[in-house]
Amino acid sequence: MNNNGPYNAYISAVSHYFPEKVVTNSYFESYLDTTDAWIIERTGIKERRYLEDDQPVSYAACKAIERLFEKFNVKPEEIDLLIIPTVSPDMIYPSTVCIVQDKLGMKNCWGYDMLAACSGFIFALMTGVQFIQSGAHKKVLVVGAEKMSALANKNDRNTVVLFGDGASAVLLEPTTNKTTGIIDAILHIDGSGGKYLKQPAGGSLHPASIETVTKGMHYVHQDGRTVFKEAVKGMADVSLEIMKKNNLKSEDIAYLVPHQANLRIIQATADRMNLSRDKVMINIHKYGNTTSTTIPSCLSEYYEEGKLKGGDNLILASFGAGFTWGAVYLKWTI
Ligand code: ACO
Repeated sequence: MNNNGPYNAYISAVSHYFPEKVVTNSYFESYLDTTDAWIIERTGIKERRYLEDDQPVSYAACKAIERLFEKFNVKPEEIDLLIIPTVSPDMIYPSTVCIVQDKLGMKNCWGYDMLAACSGFIFALMTGVQFIQSGAHKKVLVVGAEKMSALANKNDRNTVVLFGDGASAVLLEPTTNKTTGIIDAILHIDGSGGKYLKQPAGGSLHPASIETVTKGMHYVHQDGRTVFKEAVKGMADVSLEIMKKNNLKSEDIAYLVPHQANLRIIQATADRMNLSRDKVMINIHKYGNTTSTTIPSCLSEYYEEGKLKGGDNLILASFGAGFTWGAVYLKWTI
């Protein structure tokens, strides 16, 4: 993706929030035909976090943003633009961004929700980056936030064990150093994959009705095997493509930051990039698939643990419903 603007964008602050309620695999064992061993072996997930019934996704988004403001000494009124990628907004409208903006008093910002499923974070990140690169804005917040527990059918062992709730935020700011921050991105969509992973009802095609509710059409539906295969291919191919385009060898990469959908997808992607396990950010065992939150939550946790340093080359990679997929190459700065 060309940057003809005067600035590069860099991540100047990062934070995450996961709810307190821990849901272990043994909870699903208690009422579904599944086992802790099956879930760990086939997905790598040991537990996930759930928001309470009265906590919508905006609650998690606000928590993550408040933590970022506090930790990095940012004031709400400094934010120019807020983008929230999510498949689980509080409601269709008003947008979750408007709800969060009001709750936190970010009175000088505008913003919008974005829908690109598991690629939501990197699509939103690259959208925010454009406003920084052009000089239009000085502070852009991108906040992946999800309440996947509200979208997963509790009686479907094929999907419910995979997902969790949470939120993570990054702040983008401009730098005149064009060799640091977000350097490049390759993003794709292929709508022919739409049938393999979807939430069929709740939109204008199938508005809520007794029939849609009875048939469970407001839940996540997927052909897991097809999504698995496409995810490995999509994430690995686009990651290798961005490495080649930027003359990066495996040894130049500090970390691959992959979307956390399934540990086996992550491992297969890393193998194809010739990256050892210690160069792959992983937190799926603790949180499951939190859709637009997985990648920024990895960044935030590894940053807090002191595992990231200025100048590290990172490849962010994702694959999700749509199909949507892509990779971002960035040099870490904080
Ligand atoms: N416990 C026990 N058995 C299960 C469970 C479970 N929780 N879930 C599925 N099974 C069964 C299936 O019913 C099937 O049984 P059958 O052979 O009698 O029909 C059997 O296990 C094997 O099913 P597969 O689909 O082949 O299992 P697989 O090893 O592929 O794992 C999984 C399934 C985990 C869903 C995997 O395909 C996957 O991760 N796919 C990616 C999908 C995904 O991550 N989607 C989320 C959003 S998209 C994204 O983020 C990329």
